[in-house]
Amino acid sequence: MTAKPETQKEIIELRRELEYHNHLYHVLNSPEIPDEEYDRLYRRLLDLEHQHPELVTPDSPTMRVGAEPLPGFEKVNHPVPMLSLGNAFNEKELQEFHRRITTLAEADNIEYVTELKIDGLAVSLTYENGILVRGATRGSGTVGEDVTVNLRTVRSIPLRLRSSYPSRLEVRGEAYLPLPAFKKINDVRQEKGQDLFANPRNAAAGTLRQLDPRITASRPLSFFAYSAVIPEGNSGISSQWELLESLTKWGFPVNPNRELHKGIEAVSDYCRSWEGKRDTLPYEIDGIVVKVNSLEKQEKIGVLSREPRWAIAYKFRAHTATTRLLEIKVNVGRTGAIIPYAVLEPVQLGGVTIKSATLHNEEDVRRKDIREGDTVLIKRAGDVIPQVVGPAPENKGKRGRPFVYPDNCPACGASLQREEEGVLTYCPNRNCPAQRLEALKHFVSQGAMDIAGLGPQTIEKMLELKIIASPADLFSLDRERVLELPGFKDKSASNLLESLKNSKNRTFDRVLFALGIRHVGEVTARLLAEHFRSIKALRNASGEEITAVNGVGPEIAASINGFFSISENVNQIERLEEQGLQFQLTAVQEESADSLPLAGKTIVITGTLEDYTRQEAKAALMKLGGKVTSSVSAKTDFLLAGENPGSKLDKARDLGVTVLSERELEEMAG
Ligand code: IVH
Repeated sequence: MTAKPETQKEIIELRRELEYHNHLYHVLNSPEIPDEEYDRLYRRLLDLEHQHPELVTPDSPTMRVGAEPLPGFEKVNHPVPMLSLGNAFNEKELQEFHRRITTLAEADNIEYVTELKIDGLAVSLTYENGILVRGATRGSGTVGEDVTVNLRTVRSIPLRLRSSYPSRLEVRGEAYLPLPAFKKINDVRQEKGQDLFANPRNAAAGTLRQLDPRITASRPLSFFAYSAVIPEGNSGISSQWELLESLTKWGFPVNPNRELHKGIEAVSDYCRSWEGKRDTLPYEIDGIVVKVNSLEKQEKIGVLSREPRWAIAYKFRAHTATTRLLEIKVNVGRTGAIIPYAVLEPVQLGGVTIKSATLHNEEDVRRKDIREGDTVLIKRAGDVIPQVVGPAPENKGKRGRPFVYPDNCPACGASLQREEEGVLTYCPNRNCPAQRLEALKHFVSQGAMDIAGLGPQTIEKMLELKIIASPADLFSLDRERVLELPGFKDKSASNLLESLKNSKNRTFDRVLFALGIRHVGEVTARLLAEHFRSIKALRNASGEEITAVNGVGPEIAASINGFFSISENVNQIERLEEQGLQFQLTAVQEESADSLPLAGKTIVITGTLEDYTRQEAKAALMKLGGKVTSSVSAKTDFLLAGENPGSKLDKARDLGVTVLSERELEEMAG
């Protein structure tokens, strides 16, 4: 169907409008419209693009949700190498840098720009005629990797530039993970018993090099621009300061904490002042970058073996401290996981007083061999809560006994159970008050039902006053009951009831995530929702059917089956369903799944494939809407056969199932 001119116009306008609001929200932090309105415009665009797939362009805001998984990353050359920086570890070295500069520039009156040194990954973004055409990692500096689809998911990166830009432009900057997002990712990993990311930088690197862009999209990376390569020659920009202003004008987020200084003394003061307040930022920085402001002078000073001589990184001291470990205690998580933490003798670390630190799990405590009474080394790993690195070197003499897990839940007294293969210990009591509280906090949290006006304290109070006992009770709250809560007045009670009502529009995947099934995080919930499409289908699915979903292993499947085998859980879902929560895909979501090339098709794989591992092939087929099962039956639509196929091939032939090669399937799937 060819689109009518007015439809084309509407699509263009919707894109422009969505990018405008995206910029206001993610770059300027000053949204003009409520999220619901943004979602409405977005859904309208999505609808039109589904009707007219030929009109989808790479700069459409709908591209930000992540494309199909990639088999690997292409290499990208950086014609202008991406340089690294020399370091100054103290003020003396900063003075030496300044002396070198004055000699090389043959001038004394040097102007410097100071910028925060964001602890993330350097990336390069290429724009042609104002449109983002390529995003790459720094790699070796001369050769990086093409991560365009992943960088498109970063909301603060413009897909289209805003005002009078050069026809070709390469912008460089730092992709990073804000601390709250980092903490959330690690919390989920901890709940799942997965290895934690050591710091936001590693988490950002792992996210950017994800072969499944949908996972990247689910982790809110952000970006700050700090330099540009403009091949057109005379761009009218003569200093770093002007360049930063131009970057802002073109629509990039530029860190606001930048300053222009005359002379190195002012630079020193600036560095010192940030050393003390780095922890006030919602992202990690590891120093200050000092750059000669004049581009002409930069040129004159030059580059020495991959490092510009006109810039330097003033590095902050590492963030560690020693203190006494008073006690090891445990907390109960929302799925019952028992998580140890250290109670510390209060100590100052980077401007904040630290009284406790996370210990992740029993294995972590054993590996680090830390014991009550030890003097320990602690560091802030980009988290609000710091970590215990291990016993401090000065820890001599007699030590306490190694830590042993308690036998009973600290909240309800139930006998604790150890996960068979994992590293976690659980409280098995579903009525454990600590679990109830945590489960409710999770249910209303941002990525889940996102119920505004319902903070942890309110939930605690509601449980205490027995106003609610479970999530479903929230939806039958009336104004009178809400007004019984301390701090609630007419207006706040109306607001809460209103946000509860609005939350009924949350999509099925979010509701599924909100249920708090152990091991079912945001991404898994989305994969399950797209595959099974309704809670009923998921509930009736066997372990094998669940593991057929890419990225869903037997442990998750067992946890899901276990969840539905408990009548209380089923009853809770029925009550939530009666209240009008979404337990199936809505029409828009259905439509997008239905339009996939392999929608509704069941596929079996046999033999060794040439270009894919089994897991990759399975992932690719699922992303195309297909369902991958392990044995051939009359219901099988296709058999994907590689080298040395087994008996499945014979069976498929007997049953008349179409047999396809890798190439044929690729062609069919477009
Ligand atoms: S300028 C020619 N500015 O630090 C100068 N780098 O150790 C190249 N970084 O690879 C970099 N914030 O990843 C510059 N405001 C900033 C920065 C910054 C973070 C990183 C960047 C670079 C590394 C150098």
